[in-house]
Parts: sequence; C-alpha cells; structure tokens
Amino acid sequence: MSKRVLTTESGAPVADNQNSAVAGAGGPLLLQDQHLLEKLARFNRERIPERVVHARGSGAYGHFEVTDDITGFTRAAFLSEVGKRTDLFLRFSTVADSLGGADAVRDPRGFAVKFYTEEGNYDLVGNNTPVFFVRDPIKFPDFIHSQKRDPFTGRQEPDNVWDFWAHSPEATHQVTWLMGDRGIPASYRHMNGYGSHTYQWNNADGEVFWVKYHFKTNQGVRSLSAGQAAETVGRDANSHQTDLLQAIERGMHPSWTLYVQIMPAAEADGYRFNPFDLTKVWPHADYPLKRVGRLVLDRNPDNVFAEVEQAAFSPNNFVPGIGPSPDKMLQGRLFAYADAHRYRLGVNHTQLPVNAPRAAVADNYGRDGLMATRRGSRHDKNYEPNSYAGPAQTGAPLTAPLEVRGWTGTHAAPQHTKDDDFFQAGELYRLMSEDERARLVANIAGGLSQVSREDVIERILAHFHAADPEYGRRVEEAVRDLREK
Ligand code: HEM
Repeated sequence: MSKRVLTTESGAPVADNQNSAVAGAGGPLLLQDQHLLEKLARFNRERIPERVVHARGSGAYGHFEVTDDITGFTRAAFLSEVGKRTDLFLRFSTVADSLGGADAVRDPRGFAVKFYTEEGNYDLVGNNTPVFFVRDPIKFPDFIHSQKRDPFTGRQEPDNVWDFWAHSPEATHQVTWLMGDRGIPASYRHMNGYGSHTYQWNNADGEVFWVKYHFKTNQGVRSLSAGQAAETVGRDANSHQTDLLQAIERGMHPSWTLYVQIMPAAEADGYRFNPFDLTKVWPHADYPLKRVGRLVLDRNPDNVFAEVEQAAFSPNNFVPGIGPSPDKMLQGRLFAYADAHRYRLGVNHTQLPVNAPRAAVADNYGRDGLMATRRGSRHDKNYEPNSYAGPAQTGAPLTAPLEVRGWTGTHAAPQHTKDDDFFQAGELYRLMSEDERARLVANIAGGLSQVSREDVIERILAHFHAADPEYGRRVEEAVRDLREK
C-alpha cells in the first residue's frame, strides 16, 4: 500500500515527523521549524468547551420511515406518506457528569434526534424520561448546579442533590422515576426516548393538536441494578459507547418505534392535568399511543469530535406543521440551545456537515462571522427586500396561532383539577411490583442517608409521604436504618 504524503496545514510536504529541527545535533530548537510550531499550537487548541449539560454522549446516523398515515394531524412533509424515509443523526447522552464521566450511572439519558427533512432540519431534543424535575426554566441553572460537581469539593454532593429536590416538590415524580429500575439503562439501545414536552402539530386544514412523542425501543427495555452498574463502570467506563459502536459495526442496527399521544387543542383547557406541565404525563387511558414510524440507526460516525462533539441540536429547529407549545420549560429551551452553540461552536456551527441541512438548502442573508464557509454566488445581495433574485419569505406561518389572555407577571403555571406535585409520583409507585418498590426505596435511602442535615431529610420525606403513605413510610424507615448503622 503506497503511503500518503504527510503535509503541513498549508499542504507542504513534511520531511521529518520524528526529529525537531535543531541548531547542531545537540543544540537548541530552531524557531523556523514550522511543522513543530504548527503541530504544538494546533494540539493546544484541540479541545472546545464541553456541553454545560449532557457533555458525555454517543451518536449515530440512521433513518426514519413512516409506517402509519398521520396526515390528519400534521402537514410536516417528512411525515406525509407511508414508506417515506428521512435521514437523521441521533445523539444519546448522560446529563450530569463531564465529558470524561462514566456511562453506566444513575442519571437521565438524552435522546436528541436531528431529522434532515426536505423542509429543513427538525430537531427533537428529548430524554429517556417522559417527565422532568422542574417546570420553569428559571430553575434550570440552579437545578444543574445542585447535580453537578460542587465548586468547593469538586464532587457530586448528596447534600446538594437532595437539598434541591427537597425544595422542589414538583421533582417528586421524576425522582421516583430516576431512583426506580429504569434509572440506569443497560445501554443506549435498551431504553425508550421521549419528547417529554408537549408540542404543537397542525394539519393542512389549520387544525391544531397537542402531541407527546414516545420512541419505544425494539431491543427491549433493560436496566442495571446499582451493583451491576458499579461493576460495569469498573470494567468499562465507556460501556454505552462500546455497546452502540459495536452493535452498529456488527450490523445489529438498533431501532425504535415512534408513537404519539394526540390531544385535540380544544381539550387542553378542560383536561385534569395541565397538558403543558413537564412534570406530568398524560395517562395512556386518556390519550392512547398512535404509531407513526420506525427509527433505525445503521452507521457510526467516522470522527467522534467532528460529528458527535460538534453536533448541535436546538428545540427551536421546527418544520412547517410542527411547533412549540406554551410549556414554559420548552419556551426557555427555545432560547438556550442556539445560544449555547454560538458560545461552544461559534455562529457558523450550522454550516458544519453534521448540522447543515441535507435535504434542504439554507438560503438567507445571514453573513460572515468566525469560520464562515458558505459563499453563495458573486451576484448575491446581502440585504432583503431587494430587486434581485435573492430568497424571499413565503408568507405561510409555520405554526398555528395561540390565543393568550391575562396579565403579565411572574405567575406559577396554571393548575388544573388533578394537578398537584405528588399524585402522579404516587401513581408511579403504586404501579410498581413489590420487588420494584423495594429496589426504589433502597436506592433513595442509599443517597438520602448520606445527607448531612436532618431538616433536609425531613423536608423531602414529606414529599414521599404525600405521594403515597406507604412509599413515605418505607423510605423513612430505610433512611433511619442506614443512618443508625
Ligand atoms: C429550561 C430547561 C433546559 C435548559 C435551559 C437546557 C439547556 C441545555 C443546554 C445549554 C444544553 C447544551 C447544548 C450544547 O452545548 O450543545 C443542553 C443539552 C441537552 N438537553 Fe437541555 N436544557 C433544559 C431542559 C432539558 C429537557 C427538559 C430535556 C429533555 C426533555 C433536555 C434534553 C437535552 C439533551 C438531550 C441535550 C443534549 C443534546 C445533544 O446531544 O447535543 N434538556 N440543554
């Protein structure tokens, strides 16, 4: 096999990649050694800021195929026909730890999909949990601070983790979920994905629906116990990455079936739960799952940095027929992601191959900035409106309008008849088998018993009692037992 010629960044051949240029065999280095200077300088700049959350992740390419007709609910072109296929990129992640963190930990998992549709990229940036810890974006930075490493000790602190939850009763549902059996997935292939928020769909007749997405794994849900997870981390800290990479390399292409729950817009006001509250699910008995299609992952990225680390998803990337709901958390996220990308990757991150549209063309008057590569034609104008042949607006709204009423102010989310912070957490507990309840209680007690302050423990125990008296009693007893040991 003939070797390719090693070159500098400017394309000139490199004569020696083993010995730096020196002044005499034993002498000091020569400043004129461009290859050495460039090599060291470039190496110094290999890292970019990691994601402030979801730093550790794995990605793969694949496609989505529509299996069922849902044109009655959305006019999104990529969902318009049974059998239609759309290319996509999916990034899975853990949330709390840094880039070098271990995979098999108790933590939610990210499930972020970029559909390269003919109407532009559609990003669905979800988790493996149908709900979340808080319902207002103003709490998100505090929540994340409490879960990541403490600024003084440099460790994740049970005091911080549980103190935040003790002050956030709305977290009880998600805490119950996270401490239960599904809290440590066996791999990214063996977990479901959820859009979590409620989104808007609108059809060709302008009718509006509220929609929740559920990607059900076709590999089966498999989880690790706390003991199995500790053993897995010791054996292979990158266990999820290893599993996904190897499965795809071996041709075992993981897949998920997409279902949606659909609520006609007129039913939202009267529903017993606030449908825009991210701490709540819609029971399937109220809104059954409707199948949409199948997502398959079949290709590993060639370069993890270029394609996974530089992947940028934004919940604000919608296509006609799909849009946001008034869920406050979602609204906060519509700002946060592209802002993070501009900081982490720069203003032209949308031009990177993994992020650029593939089935559509980005054509606008945005210009220049660091690392611009889009050139256009020499006759293009850089302003609009203009008298030339540049791109022009369609005049067709992407989403249906929402009626709003009331006064501005820092209001709590509206409460519907069955809305409280504990009912659905209790329902989840009551759904569990005796074995599952025992493991849930043991997991909670294992963390909570490490908290240094009794008042914090008392405060959060009240949440478990409110969810279900048996749940509260068992956690209280288990914590007491562990603290007395
Ligand atoms: C107001 C609440 C939230 C804020 C402000 C927020 C903010 C962020 C930020 C800044 C990033 C890093 C983006 C980057 O650097 O590329 C991120 C990543 C992520 N977030 Fe959120 N987040 C919020 C809630 C959520 C929720 C509720 C979910 C799931 C339902 C979620 C799922 C994800 C995922 C999956 C990623 C990783 C995306 C990737 O793989 O690149 N986040 N979030």
